Amino acid sequence: MSGPMLLEVNEASKAYGGLLAVGGVCFAMREHEMVGLMGANGAGKTTLFNMVSGATKPTSGSILLRGERIDGRRPDEICRRGVGRTYQIVRPFGGMSVEENVIVGFRYGSRVDPLATPLHEAVEQLLHEVGLIDQRHRLANQLTLAARKRLEVARALATRPVLLMLDEVMAGLTPTESAAALAMLQALHQRRGIAMLIVEHNLRAMMQLCERVIALDHGRKIGEGTPSAIIENEAVIRAYLGAETA
Ligand SMILES: Nc1ncnc2c1ncn2[C@@H]1O[C@H](COP(=O)(O)OP(=O)(O)OP(=O)(O)O)[C@@H](O)[C@H]1O
Ligand SMILES: [Mg+2]
Repeated sequence: MSGPMLLEVNEASKAYGGLLAVGGVCFAMREHEMVGLMGANGAGKTTLFNMVSGATKPTSGSILLRGERIDGRRPDEICRRGVGRTYQIVRPFGGMSVEENVIVGFRYGSRVDPLATPLHEAVEQLLHEVGLIDQRHRLANQLTLAARKRLEVARALATRPVLLMLDEVMAGLTPTESAAALAMLQALHQRRGIAMLIVEHNLRAMMQLCERVIALDHGRKIGEGTPSAIIENEAVIRAYLGAETA
């Protein structure tokens, strides 16, 4: 194996008062890898994202990006080092156009000189990739949920991440919209080679997107493996799949 891992999460824990939202979770991701994070409501998935992106500080443990500690750093620093994320509750700047929202992303996260690449072209290219080019001048608060979710992905991509964390970007979408979102993510991964950590309750989509899946239950990692192995993992079935099929 050569070079450091892209992401290393070592014994990461987050306590809220007496509640252990994430307890001693360990996993690693390679460059370009597609990894799923599954677990029932309250399992700790968003809290884990928050720790990696700097929105919240781990109570204990460490998080490394390309071999360097990032835990406890500010969200903007972590973003500039290459971690992009979407939010479960989408929150674009509603009174700004689609295009302006994406420009904010470029300005916020840019690790490259903003003058080095013509911004206009980069924004246009990105809006093509997420299928929002025709809606570029619309205000974000006039978009459908499916389009707002795409805008959320575009804003995260604009920060030029090496790791993109997607928090339920298909939640609330129709089956047709979900299928389109899946195709968009696959195309993005193929074209840009970005590693993605994907939280998704749509298991079928997760299975299609991910090479490896990590399962959480009550803040603990209860399984990790290929999609086909994870859905046969007994602890996972008991904690998650069983509850759905019961
Ligand atoms: N800021 C906070 N303060 C107190 N408790 C919190 C906070 N954030 C999360 N929690 C608690 O931590 C646990 C894990 O929450 P988290 O949002 O990470 O779960 P999740 O896996 O993302 O769930 P969901 O599928 O519903 O999005 C829950 O019990 C939640 O109530
Ligand atoms: Mg969540």
